[in-house]
Amino acid sequence: MALHLTSFGPGKVILLGEHGVVYGQPALAAPISRGVRAWAVPSSRCGIEVPESLKSEHASSLERAFRRAAKATGHPKVMVTLESDLPLSMGLGSSGALSIAVSRVLLEAKTGKPAKTADLERVGFELEREFHGTPSGVDHTTSARGEMILFKKGSVRVVRSPKPVRVLVAIVGERPSTKRTVAALRARQALWPARYKRLFLEIGRVAREGAAAVQAGDLDCLGDLMNVNQGLLNAVGLSSEGLEAMVNRLRRLGALGAKLTGAGGDGGAVLGLFREPEPIVAKLSQEGVACFVSQLAGPRAL
Ligand code: MEV
Repeated sequence: MALHLTSFGPGKVILLGEHGVVYGQPALAAPISRGVRAWAVPSSRCGIEVPESLKSEHASSLERAFRRAAKATGHPKVMVTLESDLPLSMGLGSSGALSIAVSRVLLEAKTGKPAKTADLERVGFELEREFHGTPSGVDHTTSARGEMILFKKGSVRVVRSPKPVRVLVAIVGERPSTKRTVAALRARQALWPARYKRLFLEIGRVAREGAAAVQAGDLDCLGDLMNVNQGLLNAVGLSSEGLEAMVNRLRRLGALGAKLTGAGGDGGAVLGLFREPEPIVAKLSQEGVACFVSQLAGPRAL
């Protein structure tokens, strides 16, 4: 193998449809500029250097996930190191990004060729299952594709926009693990399955309509769908005071739409859709809000 291999797995945001996607509904998701980088150098064995900054429960799940990936790729003799500029457990797909970055370097170390998307997604899913239990697969698939997609279990469609789709991503704070939030929702829907089914169906419909709005370049419609989706997420018990406060703040600042993104629960991240997000990021940053801009689709300024 080459002396050094490197790969990048982008993090992701879900514009519309989180949680419904676990129940077979579509979700509209896109990669962001932040993510996880993996390096591989030749070694006597296949291993990973676990970052010292990781809490012990995250470190042991990373080791278990890596063992799965090593097995799935035939234990290439490399030592893998990681670097990330994504906040952990904030709904921005840090584990999906890591899964893709690691899978890509292991596959390429083993074969000496660029990894095929299907292999990347297969091995990436092995890792994601270790991190999340029963994930839909939307996070690592978005990271592997590197484009906005309408994802449904078993199908992926790329969604392109004639206009730049740009969001402000604001970090609200710590939240429970995705595994716990998904399990708590599963328990609620098991108590009242008919009602929750109706709500998940509506979340799926909103995601499909959102994909059509992106393709038509209709940002006002996309923003309205984000607001409706936030209401539905609140209805199934996934929002919180902190998330609602940030959603309301972004709407007051002129967002076309704002909603939580990812698993939600008690914290995590909020998206605001703006035509010009930069001045809002500057204003909120001055107030100490951790936030950044990401372009999710559409032509980029040169
Ligand atoms: C997490 O980014 C998205 C969820 O829908 C869980 C999943 O799809 O596995 C909350």
